[in-house]
Amino acid sequence: MKTALIKHLSSHVGEQVTVQGWVYNQRSSGKITFIILRDGSGLMQGVAVKQEVGETLFGEAKKLTQESAVKLTGIIREEPRSVGGYEMQVTGLEIVSIAEDYPITHKEHGVDFLAEHRHLWIRTPRQAAVLRIRSEIEHALRNFFYERDFVLADAPIITPAACEGTTNLFEIDYHGEKGYLSQSGQLYNEANAMALGRIYCFGPTFRAEKSKTRRHLLEFWMIEAEMAYFDLDANIELQEEMICYVVQRVLNKCQNELKTLERDIEKLKAIKPPFPRISYTEAVELLKQAGEEFTWGDDFGAPHETIISNHFNAPVFVHRYPAAIKAFYMKPDPDNHQVVLGADLLAPEGYGEIIGGGQRIDDLALLEQRIAEHKLPQTAFEWYLDLRRFGTVPHSGFGLGLERTVAWLCGLEHIRETIPFPRMLHKMYP
Ligand code: 4AD
Repeated sequence: MKTALIKHLSSHVGEQVTVQGWVYNQRSSGKITFIILRDGSGLMQGVAVKQEVGETLFGEAKKLTQESAVKLTGIIREEPRSVGGYEMQVTGLEIVSIAEDYPITHKEHGVDFLAEHRHLWIRTPRQAAVLRIRSEIEHALRNFFYERDFVLADAPIITPAACEGTTNLFEIDYHGEKGYLSQSGQLYNEANAMALGRIYCFGPTFRAEKSKTRRHLLEFWMIEAEMAYFDLDANIELQEEMICYVVQRVLNKCQNELKTLERDIEKLKAIKPPFPRISYTEAVELLKQAGEEFTWGDDFGAPHETIISNHFNAPVFVHRYPAAIKAFYMKPDPDNHQVVLGADLLAPEGYGEIIGGGQRIDDLALLEQRIAEHKLPQTAFEWYLDLRRFGTVPHSGFGLGLERTVAWLCGLEHIRETIPFPRMLHKMYP
């Protein structure tokens, strides 16, 4: 028998196919039973009529409990009133396993309960929609770079030194030596860019964040690009193109998922280049005009980012932050040494910073000075300094936080739903 995925049922109208899945819901009368089946790609209603399928098969169908595994065979027809728009007239049914009493019923459940049952929670239509969109975003990002001749160069996970400050490092015992889980692949990206020109890495990132927020995970995924001979402006332009590419892809490929999530797609359709670009100093002015008390030199908190992005109602690049609040490797602006040639991208609708990036210091002496000022151990950075000793060039790069991007595109309140198994403060189970 031909098997089909629920998402492809539109091309099987009038045919007999088998769909392999799990019972999402079921209701029966004495003569007819409606089985809502999910197969990971969508939901479908199967209709089994006692008179048509016979007493035995009808009896089997009535044994099904929520999340029982079952293969349904039948003829597909279009049915706009049915979930997903197609329906199966069941002719055959094979029970694979009968599920015990399922903890996640169709009633409302508290988020703590759901989080504890994350391994089951991901089966619900909303969560599955988020994870399918996440997968589409990852594919889109890889395609974007592939189409532009970037080389995928994986960065190590275990590192001897910090890239993004020492306050949130996860330390490990590397056979007696201190090692750290990677906070960013950037330093290795810089080496790879000098070898391969334009590169990216896409890997897990670890930060021992000490506060609980809607935007922070302790383990997240970051796609990081690094380009030789790119200045800050070229870097920003590439990011803008990448964001538009990803948004378009999600709009084109994930219509059902966006509908499941009740995402306001007009907001996503409005994402068009060019995105506003403002300096940190201009952003501070904007905050003051909005009535905020803010001192030049402080870092923005989530409420500040929301004020800035709401002002433009678009993704906004904020560039030229004070050197003192940015990482050691950021290149000072030649026109004003107090600020660096870095830029963050703030997502609209208050979703916060989704990209951090900038132009890197390419001068050996200045980089050595910065490493010393940040009290970083120079020996661990000798290899990195070599990049400035042998053929140093202007270069730039950035890192996009995947989960924050998923939260934005899916319209989610909290980052915990953007990854199958979130790692948050004091939370490592399941
Ligand atoms: O701004 P960040 O710290 O930049 C870097 O790590 C650079 N080395 C990247 C580069 O230039 N190659 O982090 C980049 C992005 C943030 O904009 C945010 O989207 C995400 O990573 N991010 C987090 N996402 C979830 N949980 C956390 N704890 C995050 N910390 C950063």
